[in-house]
Amino acid sequence: MIRYKQLGYIALNVSDLDRSVAYYRDTVGLQQVESATPDVRYLRCSDKHHDITLHLGKPGLKRIGFELESEAQIAPLRKVLTDVGNAVVDIPAADQALMHTGPGIRTWEPVSGAALDFYVGMTGAAGPAFEPTVAKIQRLGHLVVRSADQDATVRFFTDVLNFKVSDEIDDAVTFMRCFPNPYHHSFGVGNGKGKSGLHHFAFMVSETDDIGTSMWRLKKLGVPIVNGPGRHLPSGSMFLYYLDPDGLTVEYTFGMEEFPEERAREPRTLPLVLKSFDLWEGPVDPRKAAVGEVEQSRPAFA
Ligand SMILES: [Fe+2]
Repeated sequence: MIRYKQLGYIALNVSDLDRSVAYYRDTVGLQQVESATPDVRYLRCSDKHHDITLHLGKPGLKRIGFELESEAQIAPLRKVLTDVGNAVVDIPAADQALMHTGPGIRTWEPVSGAALDFYVGMTGAAGPAFEPTVAKIQRLGHLVVRSADQDATVRFFTDVLNFKVSDEIDDAVTFMRCFPNPYHHSFGVGNGKGKSGLHHFAFMVSETDDIGTSMWRLKKLGVPIVNGPGRHLPSGSMFLYYLDPDGLTVEYTFGMEEFPEERAREPRTLPLVLKSFDLWEGPVDPRKAAVGEVEQSRPAFA
């Protein structure tokens, strides 16, 4: 039973590092963390060293980092991955240094090829503590990928990695928590209908007012709002989806159901109707989640 602490960080590829650093700092409201390495940029919304890293590449997902509950989780995780024939390597020392983490292992999600790091011990960052600015961001929320084979990806996360399904909407999307983290979802898998990709990622905000004020603030800045404000039926979260300079979909979300470690409610399967996604039944711009490659880094031997 592998145990996790939280979704640790998201590594994104962007087409223009300076432009994206400015956007995530000034428009989204993250704090830039000094980087000694010009080709990796760090931003945070917590006391961790970083919550997202930016790298030059085809816009989309480079890697997902999940923090394990303890170092004792590494050996059993390596075993279950090896048992199912999934490639596992130690996180290279150079990447540990770049990500400011302790030891861990890296594997690749079998369908999308997304690199997954499972690590312990991210250090803090030098400099001032994170202070919210344009939006009262509380923490990194979740990430949703779309998978060319949704069932296979969900099985990998549940049967091998011990994530728990919280809810699903028919065969469109499955929401999971990284056990025993209580939040309804740290990770989601959408039905990519034959094509894998990054769907969106989210920052939790502290107040409903952050959703409303952000909508008007982003509109004034000319940032495309592609869905919302609305309210997700499965998690109860209010949401606002908008685009970054590369067209990646970012979400502010407020409020989320929390699950106890034991005797959690059973997952629900909700019908494939607009109300299941958005209780307020608002329109969805086709640009939502239209951009987002998954970087393919699985080594040839794997
Ligand atoms: Fe979301």
